[in-house]
Amino acid sequence: MALKLESGAKLVVATHNPGKARELAEILDNRFVLVTAGELGLPEPEETEQTFVGNALLKARAAAQRSGLVAIADDSGLSVAALEGQPGVYSARWAGPTRDFGLAMKKVEARLEEAGRDDLSAWFTSALAVAWPDGPAVVVEGRIDGTLAFPPRGDKGFGYDPIFVAEGRAETFGEMNPAEKDRISHRARAFEKLKAALL
Ligand code: IMP
Repeated sequence: MALKLESGAKLVVATHNPGKARELAEILDNRFVLVTAGELGLPEPEETEQTFVGNALLKARAAAQRSGLVAIADDSGLSVAALEGQPGVYSARWAGPTRDFGLAMKKVEARLEEAGRDDLSAWFTSALAVAWPDGPAVVVEGRIDGTLAFPPRGDKGFGYDPIFVAEGRAETFGEMNPAEKDRISHRARAFEKLKAALL
């Protein structure tokens, strides 16, 4: 069965973060009527899976089942080759309860030093899932490869942006013009795949 989304359909964005909801609306060209899980008072499920795809599906399915509407969710993070892919699905959690990414970036640097590895290869992943209340779901993943740079540079982005340099670039994501980052990022790549699958 081909799963397609009709223009004008009502979609639940399975996030309580208004910034993410806005970003999704823009990328979906405002074709849909979006309501957030937060606005519907849906609880945020615990992210218990070990993969980005697993957590994106878990969030989309929970929102679809509870709301009776088609739901879209994302899960993303930074993976470091020399740390066997950590922090990965724990990217947000490494920043602690106050979401201090200065701390999270120091932790990455310290773990690399402890591991005594000089391989600075890393990548960002974004998984996007769309789930229907009656069961079917589509999930895609986008990835951008690069290298880590210490100390952190730039204040234009968020999260781990100041320590990530995308392949073929000299500036960190934190120094990059945000429109340029949005054009090449893991999230942009995932959205392109999702559009190809559903629109
Ligand atoms: P979640 O997808 O909300 O569970 O959290 C993903 C975490 O990964 C965020 O808190 C960020 O720290 C990190 N992350 C994901 N995408 C990016 C990015 O584009 N730049 C920097 N950090 C990112």
